[in-house]
Amino acid sequence: MARTVPYTCTSCAGVAPKWSGQCPTCGSWNTLVEAIAGKASSPVQSLASVSLVHGSPRPTGVEEFDRLFGGGLLPGSVTLLYGEPGAGKSTLLSQVAIAASARGTIVLLVCAEESAAQVRLRTERLGLLPKELLVIATTSLDEALTAAEQSNAELVVVDSIQALRADDVAGPSGAINQLRTCAERLVALAKHRGPAIIIVGHVTKDGEVAGPRSLEHMVDTVVAFEGDRHQTLRIARAVKHRFGTTGEVGLFEMGSSGLAAVDDPGRLLLDEHVHHVAGSALAIVLEGHRPLITELQTLVVDAHGGVARRTASGIDHARISLLLAVLEARCGLSLAGLDVFASVTGGLRATEPAVDLPLALALTAAVSERSLPKGLASFGEVGLAGELRRVRGAERRIAEASRLGLRHVIVPASTPEVETSVQLHRAATVDEAIDLARNVIPAH
Ligand code: TYD
Ligand code: MG
Repeated sequence: MARTVPYTCTSCAGVAPKWSGQCPTCGSWNTLVEAIAGKASSPVQSLASVSLVHGSPRPTGVEEFDRLFGGGLLPGSVTLLYGEPGAGKSTLLSQVAIAASARGTIVLLVCAEESAAQVRLRTERLGLLPKELLVIATTSLDEALTAAEQSNAELVVVDSIQALRADDVAGPSGAINQLRTCAERLVALAKHRGPAIIIVGHVTKDGEVAGPRSLEHMVDTVVAFEGDRHQTLRIARAVKHRFGTTGEVGLFEMGSSGLAAVDDPGRLLLDEHVHHVAGSALAIVLEGHRPLITELQTLVVDAHGGVARRTASGIDHARISLLLAVLEARCGLSLAGLDVFASVTGGLRATEPAVDLPLALALTAAVSERSLPKGLASFGEVGLAGELRRVRGAERRIAEASRLGLRHVIVPASTPEVETSVQLHRAATVDEAIDLARNVIPAH
């Protein structure tokens, strides 16, 4: 980004020929702004003539990652990648750094948590280490900003924001004012100097309020990196994307040499499915534009007089409570005095309303201790009256069931006609769906 206009300091009004994190006149941080060139030129312009971006998206070379951004990272964009410790954030970004560097992008890794030697050891395991890949091990924000400027980095990876600290701000690293200041200055760097910046943030399951997710509004793109450290499947999900569509996902498998793209996630998940267990059901969910078959597992046990517990992992708690209420009120299923557990296998998260129906089927199967028919999947939203509502992408979901060789799919009655090799069973209510699974669809 060649700039001809000088920069002025908002603190001392001093002029600087080029942008830098620190004002050369008064030493204030992050106070330099672009001076408006020639007051005569009006700031008003036709909307159509406004330049949209600094450039075009630049692929990093890790395809499953690039797809989250609609093809690649935009120069000057800031991405927050958050996930639980051990999810594989550093691994993913090391691979992104290797790939981007190998394509000729100047990449700087800012390692605030590990020594440069530790990072080299990990990175070498992940691929051929490009000689040009730059690293700085520091917890100082100022050092990181200076390094990014001096190296003319086009991609800066900051791992992690919680370990970085601005010297002129009170409080320990990771404190909310530190997080904000660090993010603010990184954003300023991206906007003025044009590197794409990826910021790593650790979040815990409880999702503390003052954590890195509070920075979401400051960045252009937010990617949630999900997956259980005990499982192999990892999902990167674009939960916010200022320059395009959100909801795109990248699917990876963690292996001995890092993360690999999953060619056939449905197959992977289905392979682990044990169909004859009462309480499990296959759901067809949509992750971004991709249909994915996942297994929902439920377990219902006597609470032995204690307060009945509802425990869910990967499924929205409120949805389970709602479903249980509907099942009691509309289908006569009694769950009083029973502990209910529900989870999604593969460490995935099933948060769309489309999982209501398979969840209801799994729960009724668990209570009646009868397993569902083999090769049966379903999708559909359950309303408070027990009615089944259609969900988006029915055709894609059914096509995926067919591709994976499933035989029966229960869908909401209002689902549009689809030509398919699987047997479609339409149900208007959750009660009807339960009856289909129990009495109509053959068990084998
Ligand atoms: P890491 O990327 O360090 O997680 P995060 O930065 O999100 O905290 O990696 C976490 C786990 O991945 C760790 O338990 C080790 C495992 N792992 C592999 O299984 N294979 C590999 O090639 C690498 C580098 C890590
Ligand atoms: Mg890490």
